[in-house]
Amino acid sequence: MLVLGLQGSPRREGNTARLLSTFMDEAERLGTEGTNLTIVDMDIRPCRACNACKKDGRCIIDDDMQEVYPLLRRADLVVAASPVFFYGVTATLKALVDRSQALWNSHYIRELSDPGRGMRRGVFLSVGATRGERLFEGCDLTMKYFFDAMGAESVGSLGFRKIEHPGDIDAHPTALDDAKELARISLEPLIGRKRVLFLCRENACRSQMAWAFAQKDAGHIIEPISAGDRPAETVNPTMIEAMGELGIDMSYLAPRSIDQALSAGDPDLIVSMGCLDACPVVSGAEVIDWGLEDPAGKPLSFMKRTRDEIRQRVAELVETLRT
Ligand SMILES: Cc1cc2nc3c(=O)[nH]c(=O)nc-3n(C[C@H](O)[C@H](O)[C@H](O)COP(=O)(O)O)c2cc1C
Repeated sequence: MLVLGLQGSPRREGNTARLLSTFMDEAERLGTEGTNLTIVDMDIRPCRACNACKKDGRCIIDDDMQEVYPLLRRADLVVAASPVFFYGVTATLKALVDRSQALWNSHYIRELSDPGRGMRRGVFLSVGATRGERLFEGCDLTMKYFFDAMGAESVGSLGFRKIEHPGDIDAHPTALDDAKELARISLEPLIGRKRVLFLCRENACRSQMAWAFAQKDAGHIIEPISAGDRPAETVNPTMIEAMGELGIDMSYLAPRSIDQALSAGDPDLIVSMGCLDACPVVSGAEVIDWGLEDPAGKPLSFMKRTRDEIRQRVAELVETLRT
């Protein structure tokens, strides 16, 4: 389960950073995998409004945002944090927000969505020096639409007034405890789901499709992961096309090894696509083999049949897990 932190203050050790790291530490304590980005240290340029992303959903600006896109699509929980600068978020965070226009276009113009849309959640943390009643309104509105672009449900926000100098947040009577509490609340529906590892040879077609259907259709009861014992360089383009026909965007995915997939914890169940010999030995994990032929190198029609069979098998698996 990936929690993505976006630290939007130019102060690396200021109030926002402290608030966010408190949230992230609590999330990690609850068993999540965390990636915390200090945006000011990254090369993320403003959106040029060139509309290139309308064509294929990809932004043509070659900078660090290219690493952020797959993280935004993989994340189960996105935690954005920013001080109030002139009643809005910082320019540092706003550049990243504006670049999510590529995700907005994918969903609303190209009608393609990543499988995590639907389960993904978003949280916003903020601080400001003054005490005005409407201090966080501008930020909240921006973040609401940022979360919408990436397909995250906005599940909570915290804003603390009269926080100006580094260290002020530590002196606040409740802020850090509130951040921990929000971490627990926002992760609550995601914790305790059955961890299912979908496994094949290259993690380029079959196990990726199984992961996607489990994520999309059963994300509320399954925490799916996928891997291959010999991961390919990239996911299979025919698989991307077959899934694209169903409106599912797989183009941002990268094959992962078994070690990478298991780094955040052991699965409860391993579903082999037809490569039982590749299964890792995980004590206590049940193993099932679906015996599916590898569609790599076969025509699109074969890939689509494999896709449909996998979707059906995932649905059956969900039924058995429900009972
Ligand atoms: C350029 C700039 C603009 C700011 N604008 C506001 C503002 O509109 N309202 C406010 O209450 N505080 C404003 N502040 C104060 C910061 O929100 C405050 O110092 C905050 O604690 C900084 O958080 P940090 O330590 O995480 O960087 C501004 C600060 C700067 C540097």
